[in-house]
This record gives sequence, C-alpha cells and structure tokens, in this order.
Amino acid sequence: MDNFKQRIVYQIWPRSFKDSNDDGIGDLRGIISKLDYIRDLGSDTIWLSPIYATGNKDYGYDIDDYYSINPEYGTMDDFDELLAEIKKRDMELVMDLVANHTSDQHIWFQKALEDPNSPYRDYYIFRKGRTGKNGASLPPNNWLSAFGGSAWQKDETSDEYYLTMFTPNQCDLNWENEKVREGIHDIMRFWLDKGVLGFRMDVINTIAKREGLPPAGKGKKLDFPFEHIVSLPKSHDYIREMHEKVLSHYPHVFTVGEGMVTSIDDLIRYTDPDEKKLNMMFSFDLHLIGCGPLGKFDFRKGYLWSVKEMKEILFNLQLKVQEGGGWIGNFMSNHDQPRQVSRFGDDGPFRRKSAKALALLNMTLRGTPFLYQGEEIGMTNCPFDMEDWRDFEAINDYQVLQDMMHLPKFAAKKIIQKMTRDHARTPVQWSSEKHAGFSTVEPWIKVNPNYTSINVEAELKKENSLIDFYKEIIALRKSSPALVDGYITAVNRPHPYVMAYKRIYNDETLLVVINLSGKNTEISLEEVMTSHWACEIGTYEKRPFEANLPLYPYEALIYRKTQSLDKITK
Ligand code: GLC
Ligand code: CA
Repeated sequence: MDNFKQRIVYQIWPRSFKDSNDDGIGDLRGIISKLDYIRDLGSDTIWLSPIYATGNKDYGYDIDDYYSINPEYGTMDDFDELLAEIKKRDMELVMDLVANHTSDQHIWFQKALEDPNSPYRDYYIFRKGRTGKNGASLPPNNWLSAFGGSAWQKDETSDEYYLTMFTPNQCDLNWENEKVREGIHDIMRFWLDKGVLGFRMDVINTIAKREGLPPAGKGKKLDFPFEHIVSLPKSHDYIREMHEKVLSHYPHVFTVGEGMVTSIDDLIRYTDPDEKKLNMMFSFDLHLIGCGPLGKFDFRKGYLWSVKEMKEILFNLQLKVQEGGGWIGNFMSNHDQPRQVSRFGDDGPFRRKSAKALALLNMTLRGTPFLYQGEEIGMTNCPFDMEDWRDFEAINDYQVLQDMMHLPKFAAKKIIQKMTRDHARTPVQWSSEKHAGFSTVEPWIKVNPNYTSINVEAELKKENSLIDFYKEIIALRKSSPALVDGYITAVNRPHPYVMAYKRIYNDETLLVVINLSGKNTEISLEEVMTSHWACEIGTYEKRPFEANLPLYPYEALIYRKTQSLDKITK
C-alpha cells in the first residue's frame, strides 16, 4: 500500500500555533514544545505552512528567501532541531513550497527591478502598459487579482508593469523560463536533502499562464482570468518535469498540490500515478458550497446550502476521482477556510457532536486525511470587529465588494466576517489562562473569547472528549486497509440528511453512517441487509445495526461486516 495513503497529516500555521519567547507570535520552538501532543493524537506527518524569510503581507506565502527562516519564527538551527525532534518521534515533516510567486524582496525580483536588461527580468512577467484616454497609462490587460483589484503593479522606473495574481508584493514567476524552473528545483533539493519528506505545493495549478496574456472574460472590466491561468496544459508539463528532475530521485517523497478551482478531471490528471506528477491534490468543491461562481466572497447564493448538496458534492468527487484513478487530500479546514464546525456543523449546542461527525467523515473518506491546528478541540469562528482583521484578503476585499459589487458597507462587512481567513488564524487555544496559553503577551491577532471553555487543557480532562475521539478514529483508520485504500460505494444516496457509504478492501468491509444535520432522523439501510454488521465506533454510543436506523443530531457510526447472511444459509 502506498505510504502517502497511510499518513495522517496535521497542518501547522506557525504564526498562531504556539509562542515560546513571549512576543505574541508563534514560532519553531513553540512547535517543538507541542510535538508529543501532535504525535499522541495519532498524526505521523506535519505540514508546516511557510516559515521562510517573508515580507509578511501574506503571512509567509510571500517569500523573500527560500533558504532562510523568518527570524520571527527562529533560526536554521531551530529548524534543524525541529526536524530532528520530529524524526525522533517517528514522524515526518512536509514543507510548503510556494513556487507560483516570490515576494518583491526576493533577490531575483530585486535584480529584475534594478536592471531591465538583467537576465532576472525574464524570471517574472513584465509587460508594457496600454495607453488609455488622454494618454493615461493602463495595465497590460484586465486581469483581476485573486484578492481583488488589478493584478498588475507598475514599476515607475521602467514604466512597465509586473504581474501579481495574489497580494501586490507576490510577483508571479515566469515558468516558461528554464532558469526559474531550475531555481525552484534547487530549492526543493535543498529541503529534501535536509530530510523533509516532501511538499505541499501552493497554487501549483496556476504556474503556467496563457501565451500572449489575452484579456479575461469579456475583456472590458477587471475579470479573473480562470481560463488563462488555471491548469493550462503547460502546468502539467512543468509538474511532470519537476517529478522527473527532482521528486523521482527521492523514493518516499510526499507531494500534495493545492490549486484554484481544480476540476475533477484535472485532479485526476495531476495525481494518477501513471502521469508521474503528484501523490495527491486538494479539492475545494466542498469548501465553496453556498458560494457563487467567483469564489468565497461571491455572495450571490447567500451562502445557503443543504446537507443534500454537501453529500452530492462529496459523492461526486469521491466516486469520480476513484473511477479515474486519482487521489486527494481530504480536509475540513485549513489556514484559508473558516472553522469546520462553524462552516459545516454547529458551533452552538452540537459543537462537539458535529465536530465528531466531521472528523469521522474526514477520516473515513477515500483520500489522505489532513487536520488543521485547533480542529481537534472544535475551535470555532471568532466574533471579530473590523479592527481585528489581519488578513490582506479581508481588508482589501471589503473595499472591492463596495467598489466593484456596489455593496453598502454593512453588507460588505457581513460577507467578510463570514468567510475571512482570519477565523482560522486566531491562536490555538491551549488553556484557560490569559491569551489562551498561546503566549504571555497580547498575540498578534485576537484570541477567540471562547478560549475559557474551549481549550486543549480542558478537552484533555473531559470524558468522551473530542481529542479522545480523534485518537480513536485515527487509530481505527491506521489499522484498517479498507479505510486507507478501500473502494468506496454510496449507500442510500438519495437520503437528504445522512451520508452513508461502504469502504471495502479484500475481506474487510466497513459501513459508515453520518447524520450531517442537526435534526433527529432515520435512514433505511435495507440495501446492506445481506450482511451482519457489528458496531465499531459511535459518537453517542455504539448502537446495534437496524434496517431502519434512527439517528440523533450529527450522530455518526461505523459498522464492521462480520459475516454474510448468504454464507450462513449455505
Ligand atoms: C494559497 C495559500 C494562501 C495564499 C495563496 C497565495 O491559496 O493557501 O494562503 O494566500 O496561495 O500564495
Ligand atoms: Ca514568538
């Protein structure tokens, strides 16, 4: 069985994980102090969001230098110690590789700016502007950046523009240039040679841009150039080349690609082992539920969705990826998404129950499970005031919603408040001490006021705690070939509230039943009556199998097939 399928990945967003030196900012030594905790959960792999030297406009995803550590987080010695401590615990480390862009402070970009004739100019995407009415200088095209506003910044000295698809200091690299690709390959080798297991690759499906950079959409107003940057054929070529030149030389390397709006067909083409590209990709279909076609701040559907839709999104993804021979990383939250209980469950009375249901879902779907810091204690979205927002995306899109979508302030605020990435970035709540035990001083971002009741220390003391449940479900996953690599089939797919499926591998068959709603309900399981089922895990209690199984709000169960009835009668 492939090693990458068996891993349980715990994502750390370092700025908010644990502060060790009382400056209000999480750091590497803070992580070292919590490694036992992560291992005890059952995770064997840590994915660390970027810790490199950074301009911090996008909190690490804007990299100044891929070969040095952000001094706020520590030193290279701290990193080496972190890696050694991880390995000591039989765990592995996956780094974040941000290869679509560097920050504007990166030496390549600095050289490109200094001298338009330097070879570094072609490491980026510089273009002449257009001339508007009255001779005004306009950006080269109408591309909208992912965080709002024109995707072009002007270099006043040369009077040219350069492309920045994310924050204005994240300068898109020109992957057509072989030197750029070699530069990225060198970075990868440096970290792999240090002993990291692999990479989570940031927006890796947008590295190729359409030749000639044609206008987006109808070409008039600012528009996001999905059709010119997402999963172009060349992005596949570049990743295959990366595999051949770098990844294939490291036998157990772990790779997970993150991409914008990756279609299911593309997920498969990036991850089918015959393609020799990546182990797995993330899909955002679930996370965009209730959003309009333009993404998370496209409010036109009112963020309304039903459990039935959620089920259909998941089954469609699961079954098609399986059929196509691809592999995905499953996740309920990450550093870019609201908290999972607030988004898909209930952050009120059923907080713990819905967190268990979502954990069980995440650990039993086909794909490698990822969990995000704080998820294991059911951390919730945070009641922010506007002054509490820290993310460029939130602050910028608040303005964009007003300027481009003509929303009144209160509506723009409400939308940001619902979807801002800041929810995921509030400090991990370690205890009920001041600042949630994250730091002894005021942290860089607001602490969720519910830390007094929702925190690791309290959760560890509780009976039937969420942490215990994570341990239990992770242990089951690790011991079950059916959950790691089994086939998935839907059971009673039309049911409006309950997601039920079988996972099958040789002799082992498990039946998963999850009420994804806050209502009491009942599901007919007659179609699986030909077998005997023993209850293995229940989030309320273990309950015997019934043809018509009643379920409490967010109740989730796993049954194991013990014998076939047809065998008994024979
Ligand atoms: C990815 C990251 C996100 C970042 C963006 C640009 O989507 O997950 O945090 O802002 O890429 O690098
Ligand atoms: Ca610190």
